Amino acid sequence: MGPAARGKPVRPPLRAASPSARILTLGDRALLPFHYDTSISIRFGPGVSRDIGDVIDAMACRRILVVTDPNVRRIEPVARVFETLAVDRETEFFDAVHPNPTARLIEQGAEVARVFDPDVIVGVGGGSALDCAKGINFLLTNGGRIEDYQGFGKASAPMLLAVGIPTTAGTGSEAQSYALISKSDTHEKMACGDRKARFELVLLDPELIATTPSEVRASTGLDAIAHALESYVTRTRNRISRMLSREAWHLLNGAFERYHADPSDVGAAGEMLVGAHLAGAAIEASMLGAAHACANPLTARFDIAHGAAVALMLPHVMAHNARNDPSLYEGLRVPADAIEERVVALRSLAGLPERLEACGVGQKDLSVLANEAHAQWTGAHNPFVLSVEEYETLYAVAL
Ligand SMILES: [Fe+2]
Repeated sequence: MGPAARGKPVRPPLRAASPSARILTLGDRALLPFHYDTSISIRFGPGVSRDIGDVIDAMACRRILVVTDPNVRRIEPVARVFETLAVDRETEFFDAVHPNPTARLIEQGAEVARVFDPDVIVGVGGGSALDCAKGINFLLTNGGRIEDYQGFGKASAPMLLAVGIPTTAGTGSEAQSYALISKSDTHEKMACGDRKARFELVLLDPELIATTPSEVRASTGLDAIAHALESYVTRTRNRISRMLSREAWHLLNGAFERYHADPSDVGAAGEMLVGAHLAGAAIEASMLGAAHACANPLTARFDIAHGAAVALMLPHVMAHNARNDPSLYEGLRVPADAIEERVVALRSLAGLPERLEACGVGQKDLSVLANEAHAQWTGAHNPFVLSVEEYETLYAVAL
């Protein structure tokens, strides 16, 4: 049953975009120029993280800074990875990572790194740990503050080799050269990117996500699905990013229910992990859209988990996009409105909030939220750039 059947309007009464608002007028068939650049070595397989010692030795590294969070460190298969790393090697841990890492956290990690003087950084955890690993690498090798690296390509000096080991099927941060770091005071998200910040190697081990808690599986899984669907239609999409987004959608859509029901289903976990990685790789080329622009202020102001906030807004953003260009979501084997309903169904199955009011958001908050969503850099990549008023309407429909 979709939201419309529950008496809630799905489609906000937004005006249609003018024809000139369309950027990719020839859609996926256009010979639009693009630049796609990847260099990450990827190893996938159950138990592949146990190869970490050989991997580090092959890099001729001996001093390893591990960036992780205290919960992940206690997970048994992750603990085994750390035991392997410590054999005949020097290791230091920065394990203070928390969700939505701040500039202050990056500075603390960089101070630990300066004292230890590593020759490789290993990020182990969800997107926050992997983003922290990249952020610490910026400050350790290039100095200054993380704010100095907002944007792309601001690091002039070489950066340390780094290995990424995700323990959630969510952000796909391990596929990207960007670290998303929040300003310490306003919690506004900064995207700090550089080709040199990419992980040299990524280990995708489904055994590491076999004990992920239910609420984390829910929000990270929906976030990954949003990454696939948003990156599929952005103004900056290209043939390769669309291929990645499409495969990511198929994997995530096919495996979400099985993985959510039983995270020890290694087959489903593997499809989620690879799907999330491919969606992350698609973002690297195509960026994200208005669902993420809407979600970021919700997380900053109301502490709604990122994936839950994205899942709350995604169907409304998709409806807006599809109304302005019904062909946008073609190629996903499912009509756009059926995909919206599927997202709503998965969100419900996962027990994530379906209305903003359930998260403490009221009518009085919508104007501020809309202004902040409009200022988000990611909204500029949505196929149709929304005005402040349109963002407010989207929030009102989701209220
Ligand atoms: Fe996201």
